[in-house]
Amino acid sequence: MFRAVLTDRLQAAFTAAGIALPEGFVPSVVIASDTRYGDYQSNAAMVLSKQLKQNPRALAQQIVDQLQVTDICEKISIDGPGFLNFTLSPAALIQRLSVILKDDHVGVPPVTKAKRIVIDFSAPNIAKPMHVGHIRSTFIGDSLARVARFIGHTVITDNHVGDWGTQFGMIIYGWKTQLDQAKLKLDPILELVTVYKAINAATKADEAVLTLCKTELVKLQQGDPENLAIWKECVRLTLEQLEKVYGALDVKFDHYLGESFYNEALAPLVADMLEKGIAKVSEGATAVFSDGSVKPENDPFLISDKDEWKAAPCIIRKTDGGFLYATTDLATIDYRVKEWKADEIWYVVGAPQQLHFRQVFAAAKRRGATTEMTHIAFGSILGPDGKMFKTRSGETVGLLEVIDEAIERARAAAEEKDQGLSDADKDEIARIIGSGSVKYAELSQNRLTDYKFSWDKMLSLQGNTAPYLLNAYVRTRSIFRKLEGTVELTPDLEITEPAERALAMKLAQFAENAHDVLEDHRPNLLANYLYEVANTYHGFYEACNVLRSEGTIRNTRLTLCEATSRVLKTGLSLLGIQTTERM
Ligand code: ARG
Repeated sequence: MFRAVLTDRLQAAFTAAGIALPEGFVPSVVIASDTRYGDYQSNAAMVLSKQLKQNPRALAQQIVDQLQVTDICEKISIDGPGFLNFTLSPAALIQRLSVILKDDHVGVPPVTKAKRIVIDFSAPNIAKPMHVGHIRSTFIGDSLARVARFIGHTVITDNHVGDWGTQFGMIIYGWKTQLDQAKLKLDPILELVTVYKAINAATKADEAVLTLCKTELVKLQQGDPENLAIWKECVRLTLEQLEKVYGALDVKFDHYLGESFYNEALAPLVADMLEKGIAKVSEGATAVFSDGSVKPENDPFLISDKDEWKAAPCIIRKTDGGFLYATTDLATIDYRVKEWKADEIWYVVGAPQQLHFRQVFAAAKRRGATTEMTHIAFGSILGPDGKMFKTRSGETVGLLEVIDEAIERARAAAEEKDQGLSDADKDEIARIIGSGSVKYAELSQNRLTDYKFSWDKMLSLQGNTAPYLLNAYVRTRSIFRKLEGTVELTPDLEITEPAERALAMKLAQFAENAHDVLEDHRPNLLANYLYEVANTYHGFYEACNVLRSEGTIRNTRLTLCEATSRVLKTGLSLLGIQTTERM
């Protein structure tokens, strides 16, 4: 990765120039945003000149005098107030191209410090509708898991499904009084949600129903065999169907340790927290309060109310003895640390749960957890009208419906531009484009902003979309099809045209872009990079004729096509998007 090499060389140049670097100072090198001055840029001389009270340009010159980069750079310049600009040599780019072609990791080096990372994502609730939040979580979490694994971390994915909770009072009551077995067989998730909604509505209209539901819930919690069997069946049916959905989306989990898995651990956990003084009993409930160790504005157990800080405790046991979502999450952290030796735990969950996680992380730390815990939050998906995304009937949209509709629309489009493909091929292409489009629409967004869901936009062949990227990939493949397998890529390469150089440079930067995703858990950085690759490739394709060129030039151009193909395919796979050879 050029950025890392340049960083190392800069560091060495500082030392060679006898400049003592302040503790912890690492010269920063970035991919140049304006390529007129070079390919990479560093402001290290400017930053350091302030600290050392020296002239930045003079300091930059001192570094350049010592810098040993002739093996990769053809030019280094000092520009503006003291920027160092690096222009890579064609030889270095050619060398990278051959790595991209040969290496299984397409030239992306592993991290220097591999960690054990648990990623908690998707986590829908049984017998409750899966909503858009679960869609975002599923795609972002899956992509982060893929990237983290690709760059060498040990990743454990865990689907913390909501398989325990008060909804089961209603579900069990509904199961006994109005469940339609035939419908349950056909689509268990839908039937359970239907029953849940009907009973939920009934409890609002009739107190007596609410009481009956509560009775069923208490029986379940006390281990009544009939209710336990119903609960188990609900969980089994739902997981079975969910696995099919995940299978169709190519999303995999190493574990499905739902909330119920931790039931036995909750009472001892609360007892332990009481004993250690981390939690206390207040008005009959057990809760964690502020310990005054951080400033009020950073304290998750305090809330500001009219210029005053008031207690905002995290309740871990209710007055009726019941445990809560936070209690389960604390037990889950214990398990992940003890059993899986997690260095880090990532929670890909919507922004509304921010306070929950701040409290849980703080409470876990007080219990001695040293693992790094991160809430990877995201905003909402809005409908075309800018309001919460709903279906025509006003329901929140589920994952299944969205994917099915995307595939259907992609199928219709494939039918329209009939290119002599078989029905089976069209089905397969529609599946890839449909689910790829929904995933890409999600992953190309900054996760924290709300985005508008638009079928037309996400399925369009123009713009920053999956079809546009897939089409660029298909173009690279069609060149090789035209050659009918007779290509042999030889090592004699020569970059002559600016469009070739621009493409080779873009492809070489796959490494930096893949690594940067995990800096702040943003798959959109990778998506946008791939979009630039596709654009640069189209530019190259317009400017440079591949098939009608000859000799070294032709070989170089074919190599660029093959490298583009590999970067796009691998990059898209890190977003969980499959490629197709034709479309
Ligand atoms: N089931 C929860 C929900 O739908 C998400 C769970 C997220 N993970 C966790 N460990 N709390 O809101």
